[in-house]
Amino acid sequence: MVLLDTLKEGLSDLDARGLTRRRRVADTPCAAHMTVDGRAIVGFASNDYLGLAAHPLLAEAVAQGAHRYGAGSGGSHLLGGHSRAHAILEDELAAFAGGFVDTPRALTFSTGYMSNLAAVTALAGRGTTLFSDALNHASLIDGARLSRAEVQIYPHADTEALSAMLDASDASAKVIVTDAVFSMDGSIAPLARLLELAERHGAWLLVDDAHGFGVLGPQGRGAVAQAALRSPHLVYLCTFGKAVGVAGAAVIAHETVVEWLLQRARPYIFTTAASPAEAHAVSASLALIAGEEGEARRRHLQALIERTRTILRSTRWRPIDSPTAVQPLIIGSNEETLALAARMDAEGLWVPAIRPPTVPAGTSRLRVSLSAGHSFADLDRLEAALALTGESA
Ligand SMILES: Cc1ncc(COP(=O)(O)O)c(C=O)c1O
Repeated sequence: MVLLDTLKEGLSDLDARGLTRRRRVADTPCAAHMTVDGRAIVGFASNDYLGLAAHPLLAEAVAQGAHRYGAGSGGSHLLGGHSRAHAILEDELAAFAGGFVDTPRALTFSTGYMSNLAAVTALAGRGTTLFSDALNHASLIDGARLSRAEVQIYPHADTEALSAMLDASDASAKVIVTDAVFSMDGSIAPLARLLELAERHGAWLLVDDAHGFGVLGPQGRGAVAQAALRSPHLVYLCTFGKAVGVAGAAVIAHETVVEWLLQRARPYIFTTAASPAEAHAVSASLALIAGEEGEARRRHLQALIERTRTILRSTRWRPIDSPTAVQPLIIGSNEETLALAARMDAEGLWVPAIRPPTVPAGTSRLRVSLSAGHSFADLDRLEAALALTGESA
């Protein structure tokens, strides 16, 4: 059939360019040490930065939440699906991470992808100009496309260029959007300078802190708290599938912004609310993150980050100087990156090869993602495997 042939050609083309993606099946819970496709490996692929995804207290909280509130929400938030578990979580989130604004309120979503679509489309429409960092996550890019706003892309973290673009713009409404921690680089956005520009130009600043929430700032309150920013211009987005160890996301902002999203954001309105059991587990995770255990995990993670930076600097490839748990090693071509990932795999280490379109062409990389569940012995194995592959490359 012609239609199928077209797709088969497309798939062969991806393969020829080293862009085919393959899934692996985890036989055991997400952790530093796990069994994947039947083999024991050390995983450097997850975003489970605090090692909470398989925490017994969170598994227990999912079960308890399901017993108390049910497994499924049964409907959208506006049509019967908004459970007490969601309401409690929203209050906790506003108190935990909403310190950047006077009357904070939180709105929860099933995924970070959807919360980004919601926040961008609710704040920007025809007549708005969106100013977007060149390395922003796909969900912000897709939100921008869906919004029908004009999109201007500024070079990564280049606030001088952004300033000039804002000066030159005569748009009546402006929104600056940025990842807080860039997911494939691990670098942190210049949030203070971005906020200055947002305030000067009467723009919103939408900060996607998917990779900072739980890890950065006092008690893990995130990148905006770390930078000690305060402004009604800020709209903050955090996700629960990474350091929090569960799933879902929230937008936290001035109560009026959140009410606007609740009334207008289609990715909020026209979808079934996340399981209340999940929301209950996120509440349990927040308590861990904010407490002693969270502190201890962040301290250990920081020590692992420092050691990994030293290891990556000693290889013959180019590391990105990242202060976070995302530690990339730029290799360049898709083929060489895949070959290296395969050799790491042969050593029992799962270090994913990240290729376009996730990263710009020519910058394919190994992305070493650290978790508080790793030990220094795991990093010794990483160091040995990189030394071995470096010699034979
Ligand atoms: C920066 C960033 N924003 C948003 C998302 C989407 O979040 P979620 O996985 O909860 O859909 C991700 C990753 O998945 C991300 O890396």
